Amino acid sequence: MNLQNTLQQSKNKEVLIEIYGLGYVGFPLSMRLSSSGFQIKGIDSDKNKINRFENNSLIDYELNFHKDFLKSYKSGNLSFSNRPIKTKKNKIGIICVPTPLPTKKISSNKYVKSAIKEFLLCSNQGDLLIIESSLEIGSTEEIRKVIKSMGFKVGENFGLCYCPERIDPLNKKWAIHNIPRVIYCSDDYSFKIAKQIYRYINRAKLVRVSEAKVAEVVKSFENSFRLVNISLVNELALLCDQLGINISEVIQASATKPFGFMPFYSSAGAGGHCIPKDPTLLLNSSKRYGFQFKTIENALQINKFMPEYISKKVNKILMQENLSKSSIVCGLAYKTNMDDMRDSPGFKIIKYLKKLGFDVVGYDPYFKKELKKKYLSENNMNKENPKLFNQLSDKFLKKFSCLIIVQHHRLIQDRINEIYEKSKIPIIYDCQNKLQINHKSHSHLFSLGCF
Ligand SMILES: NC(=O)c1ccc[n+]([C@@H]2O[C@H](COP(=O)([O-])OP(=O)(O)OC[C@H]3O[C@@H](n4cnc5c(N)ncnc54)[C@H](O)[C@@H]3O)[C@@H](O)[C@H]2O)c1
Repeated sequence: MNLQNTLQQSKNKEVLIEIYGLGYVGFPLSMRLSSSGFQIKGIDSDKNKINRFENNSLIDYELNFHKDFLKSYKSGNLSFSNRPIKTKKNKIGIICVPTPLPTKKISSNKYVKSAIKEFLLCSNQGDLLIIESSLEIGSTEEIRKVIKSMGFKVGENFGLCYCPERIDPLNKKWAIHNIPRVIYCSDDYSFKIAKQIYRYINRAKLVRVSEAKVAEVVKSFENSFRLVNISLVNELALLCDQLGINISEVIQASATKPFGFMPFYSSAGAGGHCIPKDPTLLLNSSKRYGFQFKTIENALQINKFMPEYISKKVNKILMQENLSKSSIVCGLAYKTNMDDMRDSPGFKIIKYLKKLGFDVVGYDPYFKKELKKKYLSENNMNKENPKLFNQLSDKFLKKFSCLIIVQHHRLIQDRINEIYEKSKIPIIYDCQNKLQINHKSHSHLFSLGCF
């Protein structure tokens, strides 16, 4: 068997594709490829997840793919397992497992390496490995060595590609089917095979780069670009607070410049599994190469500071107004209009307010009680047990002095407007600076980057 055979089998959709990690990245990818006629084995170390899938039980964002899921599962194109199987068929392994921030106990590549090891233990000559997970610089080179240690020759009888995922949840214009992807390939056959597969993902809009390190830096640099700009505008918000001017007016006016300016908007900070994490991976990698990436370092510091700043500001306001230290944090998702609660600024504000002695609860219309444990672990709050709700009744509001709006979800915009207009709470603190001042309201409105 060789890569040429795998190319032919990919063209005929006869190749077996194993997708490791069925989360935000791997699950939609499995749906896309299985519904395009490929034979997909979804592999996930979470046994409960596999059981759920085998019992047709989807939750959360997975429900968006219910139709494709049922179609592919019934047709036999889609199956699930905890581990790969040994087969004589040629295989393509696509790695979509998490790359957490490294700690003293675990490296960022821990899950990537264990998934790759499992794939290699059941691999044959001619197989291809594609990594979509974010990686620290130099990781692909380490993976090449692991493949070599298993007796394969990368670029000759075994293919290796790094094609980092770029998905932007909720972006209607740019999604999995049309976002161009950067890819490193060990050899031309691997590139041709990748094109056959990505034809059904993003119409093979692949930008091939010459070295794995280039693709690794591209991935973390793209997200660093976002983080640096988000932190720049958030730091400006701190200045506007001091100056007593409105940051929204500053941004709107700046954005009239027809070139060289891109508007970013102030907030409680960037969250999620990518924006604050990938720059940290780039920063850590740079340090290993003896380089101090100061811009990223500063941006991360500001991002970390924003929830603390907001909490202290709210505390100060309530003290000045002689009100009880009690608050609802509205918006637990890391982004507006979605239910992804990973590494979210809303949870960080809850943590800080608790430290300041607040009676604090979290509210998000997307919050699902049955997923609370998952949300807490995604926010490193396993040991804490904050009260979280998905309802915001008048009776409930009466118990609190302040509503902190972290995310203006469209779903609850009318309710937020009503709470303000009808003065249902003494203080509103708007982290996104979106509420317009209503002079008839008796609620006192404060906004980040405004006063
Ligand atoms: N979510 C995004 O928007 C996004 C965007 C771009 C890139 N990424 C990157 O893609 C990768 C995956 O992210 P995600 O958001 O899909 O993560 P996720 O946490 O949603 O899903 C990862 C899945 O991998 C499983 N898993 C862990 N170790 C495994 C192993 N050894 N073998 C098999 N399965 C294993 C987990 O059980 C989980 O189901 C990360 O590197 C992330 O940085 C994510």
